[in-house]
Parts: sequence; structure tokens; C-alpha cells
Amino acid sequence: MDHFLYRDGELYAEDVSVADIAAAVGTPFYLYSTATLTRHYQLFDEALNGMEHMVCYAMKAASNQAILKTLAELGAGMDVVSGGEYARAKAAGVPGDRIVFSGVGKTRAEIRAALEGGIRQFNVESEPELLVISEVASSLGKTAPITVRVNPDVDAKTHAKIATGKSENKFGIPISKARAVYAEAAALPGIDVIGIDVHIGSQLTDLEPYELAYRKVADLTEQLRADGHNIRRLDLGGGLGIPYTRSNEAPPLPSDYGALIKRTVGHLGCEIEIEPGRLIAGNAGILVSRVIYVKQGEGRQFLILDGAMNDLIRPAMYDAHHDIVPIVEPVAGVEQQSYDIVGPVCESGDTFAKNRMMPPLAAGDLVAFRSAGAYGAVMASEYNTRPLVPEVLAKGDQFAVIRQRPDFDEIINRDTIPPWL
Ligand code: LLP
Repeated sequence: MDHFLYRDGELYAEDVSVADIAAAVGTPFYLYSTATLTRHYQLFDEALNGMEHMVCYAMKAASNQAILKTLAELGAGMDVVSGGEYARAKAAGVPGDRIVFSGVGKTRAEIRAALEGGIRQFNVESEPELLVISEVASSLGKTAPITVRVNPDVDAKTHAKIATGKSENKFGIPISKARAVYAEAAALPGIDVIGIDVHIGSQLTDLEPYELAYRKVADLTEQLRADGHNIRRLDLGGGLGIPYTRSNEAPPLPSDYGALIKRTVGHLGCEIEIEPGRLIAGNAGILVSRVIYVKQGEGRQFLILDGAMNDLIRPAMYDAHHDIVPIVEPVAGVEQQSYDIVGPVCESGDTFAKNRMMPPLAAGDLVAFRSAGAYGAVMASEYNTRPLVPEVLAKGDQFAVIRQRPDFDEIINRDTIPPWL
């Protein structure tokens, strides 16, 4: 459930009319619901009830500081994958001991900054990285808490670009090599081995791959303990999928996922960490856009919006489906029309949907892309010198712009002309 519902014939975000926000902010813009973010975080938190745990929001999904602060105030930790995300989490007030650092390419500078600012753990993805963390921590006179991310060679049954748990993927250390790497880690200065990490992919709509991966992690925990390692924390990654269409999808619920965690690793007595991103933010955000033109093509009509692939890249990049709904509630029984829904960017890839049935729309009408809260604003660019799309957060009957739309001067003045020109 989200909090974007029609009320008196108009789409609302909680208790605010989306059309009112559009009038105040201009289009396109991203709009998030505090109540939905909160509810989704709490679903995970409750799903892990009875186990010592921390829900570390994968902030790559939507990293505005207002979103981070909303979640951190509920008790969330953060999963970060760059020095920039680390700094942003800290700026939003997240304490270092609630920040987990993931990612295959952590640089020396990023590792140093995290050790100096405080870190819950590094999820180590390779032996060379392990050596660098040991070196940097030792040089600072610190000890780095680490888990090793293992690659369980499990097929997550998701889009190839977002599967991470097969041996052909760049992520983690092959689980078959794990014992050797843990032995190496235990012998290194400046390293405290605390647990195991695994993440097999994103938008998983079946629990079976998790079950296979977590059973492998449970076996590994026992082997590593027998080898003398004090394995006390399991980071089980993120990836639980969301419904992108209202009608026919019913992915597993966080409660099912929590029950699976208890069943597969609950007996080990470890503290559990999870790193959900999409399920917390995805259906907590919409992208609001305005129809610029309705253009009659040959045998088709195009709905040309002011939002484009630079604002929401998912359809172009992953062939992703987003439900697109008018802000004015369609009258019951109105005859739908087929549209190709496109943006103004100069490539054919700037197509959000083909042959999409919609109620009749005209220039000036507003539409909303649903399920756009995760991997929406964060993946936006200024391609075609289109200003980075602003973000708005609703809470009850209030809303606030949480990232302003830059004006053209701000964008253009970032360029520097060299002295010889
Ligand atoms: N932990 C790690 C180590 C990850 O790599 C990811 C996502 C997550 C957690 C969070 O996964 P989630 O719960 O959000 O599925 N841009 C793509 C998704 C990329 C996901 C990358 N890693 C999309 O728009 O579908």
C-alpha cells in the first residue's frame, strides 16, 4: 500500500493535492510520501522482530537527505557504496556506527574517510581490498570491522543488469574460496572479522534464490566458527522486489522474507542486517510530468511529456514498466486510447511506454509515473541540458521541496572555458 490515492477525483500524496504541488513547483518533479517510507521501513523492522537486527537502507535507491533523515529517525542504518554516499549519510545525521560500506571499488581515500568518521563495518569484496583496508586502518591506529561478501553462485532470476550473485558477476568472493580469505583476514593487522555478507540481486520476486543463498551462508557460518572465527553478524543484503503494476504482481512480503531469514539463519544466534532499497523507496515516490503535446503519428499517437529519459532512465535502461496515471481521476467507463508515451530527448530510446492504454489526455494535463521512488531521481542526469529534476517530500498536509530545480545559469556556469579559448 502507498499513500498516493485519488480523493474527490484528484490524485493526492497523503493529504496534499498533487496538482497543487505541480502548480507551486513546476513539472517534472519527484514526489515522495513520508508515511509510505515509514511504513515500508517498519514492515522490515517488524519482520525481523525477535532477532537482534538493523535495517540498513540501501541509500543508492533514493538518497535525498530528507529521506535519509526520515528513515534514520526511525532507527534505520544506511548501506553506502561510495565516499559521496557516506558523506551524505553523515550530513543527514546518521551516526557512523550505523553505516555499512559496500561496493567492489572502495578507494583508499574512501576507506580512510569512513574509518575517521566511524563505520559499522566494511563489506569486503576482494582480497586486494582487504589488504588496503588493513593497511589504511593500521596507519591510522584503528581496527576496521569487516564482513566478507561472498558470492554464492545463485541465480536470482531477475533482470541480467541487476543480478549480482552468480559467479560471472563482479561481486563478492566465490563462496568456495571464503575459508581461505577469512583465514587471511584474521591474520591481518587492523582487521576485526565480525561476520558474513551476501547480496544476490535486485527486484527479486521469488524467495527461492534467497533460501538457497542463505542456507549456504548458514553452512559457511558453521564452518568459519569451527575454523575459530567469531562470526556474530550476518548482512543478508537487499533486493526484495516490489509490484510495478497494480494488477497482476504479488511479490513476497517483508513478513514472508523475515520468516525465511528466521528459518534459514535464525538458529545461529547472529545479529541480522538487511540492506533493502527499492522496497522502502520504490512505491513511496512518483514522478509527476505534464503533457506538452499530443501528436498524431502514422497509426499511432504520441503523448509527449515534459519528463524524459534523463529524469527516469529505468524504461530505457532495463525495459522497466512503470504504471502511468492521470492526476485527474478517469471517469468510470471512459473509453481508453492507445498512446506511445515519450519525452522530449532526442533519441528514440526516450520512450516510456508503447501502446499504453490511457484515458484521453490533452496538452497541459498532468500524469504520474508510479513506483518511481527508487532508482529514479538518483539516476537522473542533465542530458540535453535539462535541469536535474527537483524532489518534493509530502507529510500529512504539508510538502517541502527537498531538492531545488537548478536554473540554467547554475548548470551552464559549471563549465569552465580554458584560458586559451
Ligand atoms: N545492497 C547491495 C550491495 C546492492 O548492490 C543493492 C542494489 C542493494 C543492497 C539494494 O537492493 P534493492 O533492495 O534496492 O533491490 N538501478 C537498478 C537497481 C540496481 C540495484 C543495485 N544494487 C534499477 O533501477 O532497477
